Amino acid sequence: MIIHSKKFVPYLLEADIQQAIQTIAQQINQTYTGKPLYILGVLNGAFRLVADLVRYLDLPAEVGFVRASSYQGTDTTGEVQLMPLPTEMAGKHVLIVEDIIDTGLTLERLLGEIQKMQVLSCEIVALLSKPSKLRVPVQVKYIGFEIPDHFVVGYGLDYDGLGREMNDIYQIANA
Ligand code: IMP
Repeated sequence: MIIHSKKFVPYLLEADIQQAIQTIAQQINQTYTGKPLYILGVLNGAFRLVADLVRYLDLPAEVGFVRASSYQGTDTTGEVQLMPLPTEMAGKHVLIVEDIIDTGLTLERLLGEIQKMQVLSCEIVALLSKPSKLRVPVQVKYIGFEIPDHFVVGYGLDYDGLGREMNDIYQIANA
């Protein structure tokens, strides 16, 4: 698989990704029954994860999105751009849904903003996490896979805009 003249090889298959999401959804179902739940997807990367996660939920949940960006090519810029947060989150239990946690800077910034709102609680769901790249401590309650520090694309994740539509996740070759 070649994207912008870089070679990518298969890494996580669709079935394994879906299995991990179902496991997370079961835990959410148990924890949030009877509680007002707001699912906050972080765009662009989490659009597929949010769509699949809610298919496996059997409780009512509000869904909204925030847009954040920090990456250029295959590297973080260290600066997080964030659009205004949905005010409907106030008075609810918030689950932030992220595609991947790399430096943790996006989540640190987001958590700072959410703390200013009157939410009942706030936890994080991430499909992928690269623990060796964390620059700030972030407590992630629900993680699909912990992965090494390799650039990955597919299932919502992009390399300079491309690759989000792929159902499997690929990693950069010769990583
Ligand atoms: P953080 O703020 O450094 O934790 O970065 C999180 C964001 O960086 C993710 O939501 C992705 O958009 C992007 N990102 C981090 N690692 C990768 C990767 O391996 N592939 C594609 N995007 C990535």
